Amino acid sequence: MIEFKNVAKYYDGQSVLRNINLKIEKGELVYITGHSGAGKSTFLKLIYAAEMPEEGEITIGDFHFPTMKEREIPELRRSVGIVFQDFKLKNDLTVFENVALPLQIRGMPEKEVKSTVHEALRKVHLRHKVDAFPKTLSGGEQQRVVIARAVVANPLVVLADEPTGNLDEEIAQDIMAIFRDIHLQGTTVVIATHFQDMFRRSGRRVIRLDAGNIIGEEVG
Ligand SMILES: Nc1ncnc2c1ncn2[C@@H]1O[C@H](COP(=O)(O)OP(=O)(O)OP(=O)(O)O)[C@@H](O)[C@H]1O
Ligand SMILES: [Mg+2]
Repeated sequence: MIEFKNVAKYYDGQSVLRNINLKIEKGELVYITGHSGAGKSTFLKLIYAAEMPEEGEITIGDFHFPTMKEREIPELRRSVGIVFQDFKLKNDLTVFENVALPLQIRGMPEKEVKSTVHEALRKVHLRHKVDAFPKTLSGGEQQRVVIARAVVANPLVVLADEPTGNLDEEIAQDIMAIFRDIHLQGTTVVIATHFQDMFRRSGRRVIRLDAGNIIGEEVG
């Protein structure tokens, strides 16, 4: 499903990822961990082609670097659900409208949009907030809307970058449980985090990065 072969990424001549070899199978839940600056976010950015590697090959479903054409990139991005700090909700749109956006972009008929959005909101336990505006929601609720938006179009893979970053412990646990549910329903999920609590006793793969290298893999 996802495969990195000898991937290297440089910024301004400095290598930030080196010799990355990794396979993630369809339906897996995988954690990427490591200190600040280890390359976690960069690794996720390579998966949805926000950044391109200078060396190596990357396969994401039917998409292959470096042979991929420029015009395939939007299609790849539409196949990836993203939970990142800089992909905020639109505050002038309701919860429903925010979650509906990825479906409308794909031209889904309105009636189908409605049922699909409601189903995604049910997954994150927010059906009752469908008409609320983001500003009236708590941080944890907003993050659940972001997750609903990421999964609504049934992506190949969901990527989350420090998804519990600003949330308190109890809410963070709720968010983690939602990602586990999404994975149990068959979606591939990759979560970057430096919080050990997120993957301790998860029974899932934990890939450890240090200064741009994979230094080990364990079961959480
Ligand atoms: N756009 C960029 N231009 C130049 N250097 C960058 C850029 N993005 C990241 N870097 C550098 O690449 C390295 C890896 O950054 P990255 O954001 O992937 O780390 P991270 O593991 O996600 O860290 P954190 O836990 O702080 O989020 C860092 O040294 C960072 O300074
Ligand atoms: Mg990061």
